[in-house]
Amino acid sequence: MGSIDIVGPLFQPLRLGALSLSHRVVQAPCTRMRSTKESDGVFVPNDLNVEYYSQRASAGGFMLTEATPISRYAAGYPGVPGIFTESQIAGWKKVTDAVHAKGAYIYCQLWHVGRATVPSFIDGKQAVSSSDIPITGNGLDGSEYAASPPRPMTVEEIQETVQEYAAAALRAREAGFDGVEVHGANGYLLDQFLHDNVNNRTDSYGSTIENRSRIVLEVLTAVAAAIGADRVGIRLSPYNYFQDTRDSNPNAHWLSLCSQIASLPSESRPSYVHMVEPRFDEVLDEDAKIGSLAIERPSLDIFRPTLKKGGIAFLAAGNFNAENAGPKIVADGADAVVFGRWFIANPDLPRRLKDNLPLNSYDRTTFYGAMPAEKGYTDYPVYSK
Ligand code: PHB
Repeated sequence: MGSIDIVGPLFQPLRLGALSLSHRVVQAPCTRMRSTKESDGVFVPNDLNVEYYSQRASAGGFMLTEATPISRYAAGYPGVPGIFTESQIAGWKKVTDAVHAKGAYIYCQLWHVGRATVPSFIDGKQAVSSSDIPITGNGLDGSEYAASPPRPMTVEEIQETVQEYAAAALRAREAGFDGVEVHGANGYLLDQFLHDNVNNRTDSYGSTIENRSRIVLEVLTAVAAAIGADRVGIRLSPYNYFQDTRDSNPNAHWLSLCSQIASLPSESRPSYVHMVEPRFDEVLDEDAKIGSLAIERPSLDIFRPTLKKGGIAFLAAGNFNAENAGPKIVADGADAVVFGRWFIANPDLPRRLKDNLPLNSYDRTTFYGAMPAEKGYTDYPVYSK
């Protein structure tokens, strides 16, 4: 009596493009590095990956895959399954079948890492980006990014890459995915065009926010033309620092991007935008991240009205938990809330939140692969008491 229902709002149905969700607890895209190597740079979803996604599927729930390379040269890390070979399509089909058998929906997150790779992962080739500015530090093979800086893409290469996203979206549908999420966040290729500390181009893909947004709008348009706009979403991270991005004016620039997305013709307009909260950082803790953003009270709320005008739903990710997720929906800060670390550790997260059950804690040391691969992947227990 008298207590406020803080989780109920998460369990209201939601129409998301072509999907009819029965709750708003979404599984985040999380790199887990546990797929099978078929050949250099080609990793294929395996039975353990099927089990992992199946464990986390719930009736009417919405899941995003780990970031999935759209081509052999879009990848940056080992163990990450792509969506560019017949074998990968077949492997993913087993995942989507298992997820659908439990009544859930799943989108494939389409990924191109741009400069966030090293030649040893891409057949000795030079990485590409918006510019020739390398990431500081070292890639996963230990070599310095600056030892092989990226090459700015030509306009022709940009156009080819846009078509690669569309082709990957078609393959994702062939693999049984309900749709795709374009990865436009976290310092990877599309974000390397958006962020003005990386994109120093002076052609039609740089120098103004309209030009820096161009590739993103072209990808959305091409992907929607391939599979239908009601099966397309996009993830963005205006306040991202990861992979050395830092924008001079994230509020104004991503507001412009949102306005451009919302103004796309309806056949090209994605059904949702998914954003990472400013407080989230891959390295810094919440206070340090907020403290280092030179923005008074940073919040995703500024983007929502513009997107709403275009009929675009909003998903929020980054440091959500049992206490702050429901209130986010009640305050109309988002239509759905996206959980990464808690979903890793709690295969039955929607049920635990709904019934106010305690959560398993997560083990960071097993996020990016483990020995054996099951550890920290498929061995987190569901609630049983
Ligand atoms: C990662 O593997 O660390 C990673 C991948 C994709 C992201 C963020 C982080 O969007």
